[in-house]
Amino acid sequence: MRLAIMAEYHDHETGNHVLRMASLSKALATACGFDKNFIETIYLTSPMHDVGKIGVPAAILQKPGKLTQKEWTVVKQHCKFGKEILSNNFPHLDSFWKELPDLSLLNQVTEVPNRFLETASKIAYTHHEHWDGKGYPLGLEREQIPIEGRITALTDAYDVMRSKRPYKEAYPEEEVIRIIKAEAGYHFDPYLVKVLIGIRKQVNSIFNQYLENVE
Ligand SMILES: [Fe+2]
Ligand SMILES: [Fe+2]
Repeated sequence: MRLAIMAEYHDHETGNHVLRMASLSKALATACGFDKNFIETIYLTSPMHDVGKIGVPAAILQKPGKLTQKEWTVVKQHCKFGKEILSNNFPHLDSFWKELPDLSLLNQVTEVPNRFLETASKIAYTHHEHWDGKGYPLGLEREQIPIEGRITALTDAYDVMRSKRPYKEAYPEEEVIRIIKAEAGYHFDPYLVKVLIGIRKQVNSIFNQYLENVE
């Protein structure tokens, strides 16, 4: 969570975006009927979706107005950076742990978070993929995109559209729902759009709960 909030500060945010991501993703997963384990995992890991933004210069992330093609290419790398930061296979990490003065700590620090890190890494890598295959970084389509990536793609976009950012104003709830409906089958998984619309009121109140960065 601290890493997730740190990346948000770097991106000119207050940290509330990642908290809303957790709640919104949990609500959507619950309404889809996923089990407790899945819901718990998406709640804990969705806030880390943009951790890789720490590898993108703040001058680009906080630039008001349109990005150049070159700057946009740099921003897109945050998916790969996030995947690497959260990966269990980060180079040389194993040798780092093995030199712990108290080796009995090893299991505590490495084993417990692994199933979360695996999903967090997956979400960081796939939350900008689109249902129609026109997203990035891999251009995956439909069920090729892990469900966790499809859920966070929708909750992230909802929250970003409703929030004020250096490059855009906040859109009203009705407008965001209209855009999401229009993007069902293109940007978003159409089933998830249907579920989100069904809990529209709940989603709206989750958003309003942490309203701080909308002016
Ligand atoms: Fe992102
Ligand atoms: Fe985000």
